[in-house]
Amino acid sequence: MKYFTVLCSLFLFSCTSSEKNEVSNEVDEKFVPDMYVASEMTLLMRSMYDVNEDIKKEIQAGNTPSEFPKEFLKIFTAKLTDDKPYNDTFKAFSKVYVDNVRAIFENDNEIPLKNRYNNAINTCISCHTTECVGPIPRIEKLLIN
Ligand code: HEC
Repeated sequence: MKYFTVLCSLFLFSCTSSEKNEVSNEVDEKFVPDMYVASEMTLLMRSMYDVNEDIKKEIQAGNTPSEFPKEFLKIFTAKLTDDKPYNDTFKAFSKVYVDNVRAIFENDNEIPLKNRYNNAINTCISCHTTECVGPIPRIEKLLIN
């Protein structure tokens, strides 16, 4: 039962990766009491989700979103679940993601706004393919068809 709980909490809160599975037995005792505490990164991701929903609505309404959401830069410093360290892939994806978000706000960019927006969302998805596959179906809903 305890093992089951740990598995569930890993699935819900920390996006099980292969490394994660290996350490799950060790962190057993310590991890369970923490299971309702969302990491800084998780909170940031949820707010990025909401902000992107708003950006999507603006674009669909024919408006040009005007302000780069600076809080997205926290992706470089926010703590991951269980203080999991940033690896190089994560850093690289974070940088590409932030650059792609900046492009949404470049008025002189010749690529259509919708494509620049979808590009950024596709970077969310790419990073999630390597780090955390669970939320991908939800993230795909942010794409503009
Ligand atoms: C650089 C890699 C990366 C990028 C880019 C990224 N994510 Fe994440 N995302 C993660 C990781 C890692 C976690 C797990 C955080 C943790 O366990 O602390 C996560 C967690 C999440 C979660 C789950 C939060 C929860 O409630 O458990 C959602 C939803 C999410 N991301 C959405 C997004 C969206 C939307 C974008 C783009 C706007 C995005 N992510 C971009 C790596 C990324």
